[in-house]
Amino acid sequence: MTDDTVTLEIAAPDDWHVHLRDDEMLSAVTPYTANVFRHAVVMPNITPPVTSTQAAAAYRARVLSAAGPDARHDFTPMMVLYLNEQIVVDDLLAGAADGVVFGAKYYPAGATTNSAAGGNDLLAFRPVLEAMAGAGIPLLVHAESTDPSLDIFDREADFIEKQLLPVVEQIPELRVTVEHISTRAGLDIVKDHPQVGGSITPHHLTCDRSDLLANGMRPHLYCKPVINSREERMAIAEAATSGNPSFFFGTDSAPHPLSKKEAEKVAAGIFNAPYALEVVAELFFELGCLDRLEGFVSHHGADHYGVERSPAKIRLTRRADTEIDPPEAMFTADGTEVRIFGADAARRWAWEAVS
Ligand code: DOR
Ligand code: ZN
Repeated sequence: MTDDTVTLEIAAPDDWHVHLRDDEMLSAVTPYTANVFRHAVVMPNITPPVTSTQAAAAYRARVLSAAGPDARHDFTPMMVLYLNEQIVVDDLLAGAADGVVFGAKYYPAGATTNSAAGGNDLLAFRPVLEAMAGAGIPLLVHAESTDPSLDIFDREADFIEKQLLPVVEQIPELRVTVEHISTRAGLDIVKDHPQVGGSITPHHLTCDRSDLLANGMRPHLYCKPVINSREERMAIAEAATSGNPSFFFGTDSAPHPLSKKEAEKVAAGIFNAPYALEVVAELFFELGCLDRLEGFVSHHGADHYGVERSPAKIRLTRRADTEIDPPEAMFTADGTEVRIFGADAARRWAWEAVS
């Protein structure tokens, strides 16, 4: 080790937003999440979408059996129902009371991968949302308008103004999370409302649309909401590193086969789970605020959701010089290749569980 090595211990981190899929993909990707994160909020946009407590319990069992031999002993997948007309309020309330269902996720129909079964009007779910508010069940939101006449980079702001603000203001007891914030509009609604939190991804923190488009289009950086301008990225990084407890880590790790990413119509989603923590650690290091990393990755989300902060710790180490070459692709058991985001940061950082 050189003198330039940096070491810090933080509470075990949580991933408040992850796509683990099903079948071979589930088996391949889940260990990356289960090895390092204590809580993982598992998105319900599988086929068919998870719309009942029974389906959530069955999916949780599949996730746990895919976690692998090196999973954290306290790895806890937290299951989410896909908010659409199939949701039965009594089932949602019973599932939450039994500890099976953590929250409900709203997808605008057509906004992203497997969102066809989503909604067209968030306020149309008012009776469900009021029941959730009464029971303390959080609403997780993909905040993006689907109006084709709107510019793609303006869709988060439009959704927030037209769909989300009315809900936040009319049902103030409802705990809300704006997922994968990509613009200042997303940051602002969080800053302005104590009951609203915001999850932030490694890629929206570290990339902008010039990275996506300027030097040969990079399909592996394509996700929804699309990575936005440099100004938006800097505002997101400022919020994540500010210590504001309303902002927390959600990787939005979303694996797609290489054949779907290098295609005529590119699938939205970035698989970052293997190096997500390393990417964020490197950003906080570069910005000189490693002392705020623990809040962002391990405390703020737990506090927002009223979940226990992880008592266990991990140790992170940054090496100034390194020869390791972390893999940039993963293969499922049936040979499907999936590209991994963040290998540069993984050259620098390593972590180990210490308790
Ligand atoms: O880029 C994305 N991919 N955004 C989402 O909201 C969904 C995700 C997926 O499931 O692939
Ligand atoms: Zn997602």
